Amino acid sequence: MKRIGVLVSGGGTNLQALLDAQTHGILKSGAIALVVSDKPGAYALTRAENAGVETRVIEKKDYKDRDAFSAALADCMEEKQIDLVVMAGFMTIVTEAFFGRFAGRIINVHPALIPSFCGDGYYGLRVHRAVLDYGVKLTGATVHFVDGVTDGGAIILQKCVAVEDGDTPETLQKRVMEQAEWEILPQAAELFCAGRLTLNGRWVKID
Ligand code: GAR
Repeated sequence: MKRIGVLVSGGGTNLQALLDAQTHGILKSGAIALVVSDKPGAYALTRAENAGVETRVIEKKDYKDRDAFSAALADCMEEKQIDLVVMAGFMTIVTEAFFGRFAGRIINVHPALIPSFCGDGYYGLRVHRAVLDYGVKLTGATVHFVDGVTDGGAIILQKCVAVEDGDTPETLQKRVMEQAEWEILPQAAELFCAGRLTLNGRWVKID
């Protein structure tokens, strides 16, 4: 059984999807062992506590720079012997000091079809606002490995969601979460924990 550490910053609906997937046996090859937030008041922490999962708060302001913050995150995950780190709405960019120590073992969910509407500055509702401003008819969500490029790591799973007439960033965010993120994030975590993902360049093979 793999040990999963989840990084959160906000409401934690993706964390909830992972917890529910564990309850329902969809996530069965890994167990959520730790939830770390960079925001002390994040509701995601309450969700973790309600599920009996250990929590930590690690705030960027308590470290001299992004590297020191990233190293503290890595120390915490190592201390808890975490095998897979899941970024589930984690809003702080980490550096090599974190992802270098967990290379190939960090996944992130992004609320769009990468390589569209991603990279620096594209997070949360901003992504959906950009999708609506552009006028695309299809959007969705992507789960990918995390490397040194923001939203640039190899893609594990993607799912399309329709943009509808009259959508607002809020209605579109809700549909993307419900129809894509909450489904593909737990699926990807299970695939990783079951040892079913092989990385071949940028191509992720699913056994
Ligand atoms: C989710 O839509 C997630 O994909 C997005 O923030 C939201 C967090 O919601 N993440 C990013 O934009 C990261 N680039 P949640 O806290 O309810 O899971």
